[in-house]
Amino acid sequence: MAICHEHNLKFKVKLDTPHNAGLYLDARDTRNWLIENSADRKVLNLFAFTGSLGLSSAYGKASEVIHLDRSKELLPRIEENYQANDIAFESRNFLRGDIYKHLPRAIKAGKKFDGIILDPPPKVYQSRYAKHKTSGQDFSALIQYCTQLLNPGGWIVGMLHRFDYSWDDFENQVKKASGQRLLPQTRLTSGVDFPESMADKKLRVSIFVADANPDVEK
Ligand SMILES: C[S@@+](CC[C@H](N)C(=O)[O-])C[C@H]1O[C@@H](n2cnc3c(N)ncnc32)[C@H](O)[C@@H]1O
Repeated sequence: MAICHEHNLKFKVKLDTPHNAGLYLDARDTRNWLIENSADRKVLNLFAFTGSLGLSSAYGKASEVIHLDRSKELLPRIEENYQANDIAFESRNFLRGDIYKHLPRAIKAGKKFDGIILDPPPKVYQSRYAKHKTSGQDFSALIQYCTQLLNPGGWIVGMLHRFDYSWDDFENQVKKASGQRLLPQTRLTSGVDFPESMADKKLRVSIFVADANPDVEK
C-alpha cells in the first residue's frame, strides 16, 4: 500500500491492483471543488469505490457523508482513507448494496441530501432491482432518483465517462430527467497532466444546482 498526497489529503493506493489503484488522478479538480463546496452539507457519494470524492466533502466540513457502493471489499479501503486523514468514520457512513435497491428505499423513507456525487461507471450493468433497462451510465434514471433526494439549493456532481455524448447533450439529458429542476452551473475537467487535443475526450464533470426557492413564482 502506498500513500498519495494531494494538496492536504492523503489517499491509500494499491499499485498492484489491476484497472485502478484506488484513486482516479483525473478527478483531482473535482475533489478540490468538493472540498470548497461541501461545508455544512449532508452529502451522498454514489458509486463510492474507495471513497475519495466523499472524503473530499468530509474534509471540506460536510455535516455528514454517506458512501454507497455494492462491493463489500470497499468498506475497509474507505475506512483506511478516512483514518489516514484523521477524519471520523462510522459504519453508518457506508451503505453497502445495489444503488437501484437503496435509492427507491431512501426516497420512500423521505431522506434528503444537500449534495449528491454521481459517478457511475461507463456501463452500468443491469440490476435485478431496476425496473427499467439500464443504458450506458444510466443518467436519465439515476437523475430522476437523485432529484427526489435533493434539498432545494442542493447540488449534484455528474461525471461523464462516455464519448458518445457531447457535454451539452449530457447536461440537456440531466435537465430533462430532473424536470428542469437541475441546472448546470459549473464545468470541471482533468488537469494539464492529462493532455488531450479534443476536449470531449477528457473527463467531463458538470455541477447541477437545484433552485433554492422552487415554490416562489418567477
Ligand atoms: C468507476 S468506480 C467509481 C469511482 C469513484 N467515484 C471514485 O472517484 O473513486 C464505480 C463503482 O461503482 C460500483 N457499482 C457499480 N454498479 C453498482 C450498482 N448497481 N450499485 C452500487 N454500486 C455499483 C462499483 O463497485 C465501483 O466501486
